[in-house]
Amino acid sequence: MTDATAIETRELAKRYKETIALAGLTMTVPRGEVFGFLGPNGAGKTTAVKLLLGLARPTGGQGVVLGAPLGDLAARRRIGYLPELFRYQSWLRAREVLAAHCELAGVPSDRWAGQISSVLELVGLTDRAGDRVGSFSKGMQQRLGIAVALLGDPEVVFLDEPTSALDPVGRADVRALIHHLREHGVTVFLNSHLLGEVERVCDRVAIVDRGRVIVEGRIDELLGSRSVRIRVTEFDGKAEASLGRFGPLTIEGDWLTIRPVEAESVPDIVATIVAGGGRVHAVEPGRATLEDRFLALLQIEEALEAAKS
Ligand SMILES: Nc1ncnc2c1ncn2[C@@H]1O[C@H](COP(=O)(O)OP(=O)(O)O)[C@@H](O)[C@H]1O
Ligand SMILES: [Mg+2]
Repeated sequence: MTDATAIETRELAKRYKETIALAGLTMTVPRGEVFGFLGPNGAGKTTAVKLLLGLARPTGGQGVVLGAPLGDLAARRRIGYLPELFRYQSWLRAREVLAAHCELAGVPSDRWAGQISSVLELVGLTDRAGDRVGSFSKGMQQRLGIAVALLGDPEVVFLDEPTSALDPVGRADVRALIHHLREHGVTVFLNSHLLGEVERVCDRVAIVDRGRVIVEGRIDELLGSRSVRIRVTEFDGKAEASLGRFGPLTIEGDWLTIRPVEAESVPDIVATIVAGGGRVHAVEPGRATLEDRFLALLQIEEALEAAKS
């Protein structure tokens, strides 16, 4: 554990009677990283966050957040948290919700006004500060929840399913906010069952299933190679000879596929086809998605289990 580490766990585990909610989580999240903790419902994501925040006690293993043992109160003040399911009293005004949380988070009272206006600005609710929460859309309530999590300039922020309840615009807003946090050096620990949603914002992810991490790594490594599919007519014979230098080529009807391919060479590929008399009708960049990877890994796991029994 160094100062460059935000979160570190060793064999962190939680069991509720017969249910193993988390089975031995070992991981390190460096400071400044956006870390995605992904997996289907019931995988153990919320449990992991509750353990890391000290809201639930582990039944095994250890963890350190910001250099302190789990649940340490001084460290807790440097941590922001958006719970998975939250509701603020509908009669409170947004500003009042934030003031109450400033108090709870131990923000010195002379800093409340500045903190409240800065988080409202960040989540785009400045002109709704005086409105009652009851009049807010789901998306606005979610943004208010994120504003609460950002009070007190936390160094690490836990967001549990921040985009699940949102429409596409709301999701894009949350992604932009996460980018903003990363630019400001904030470590973000993001729980999500929406794999496609987070692969665009995370530096690194762990995919969990039934309490176990089944794969962890940098997002670009997990997603693997890029490909390009091009629909071409009036280009024959010379295809393999002239395009082979860009990568392995397969041809199906009018479609050429090159995989793996460097994204930068796509214009040269098209130029080569056109120079050879070909007509280009479509160019589709392709890449495996996290969802594909996850489903493939699950199949491998199931096959291994079946082989054992
Ligand atoms: N307080 C609890 N009591 C009993 N079982 C629980 C409790 N919290 C979570 N679980 C169980 O632990 C497993 C993991 O749950 P959770 O961490 O909420 O998953 P996720 O957030 O990935 O959807 C589930 O099987 C869930 O039913
Ligand atoms: Mg959850």
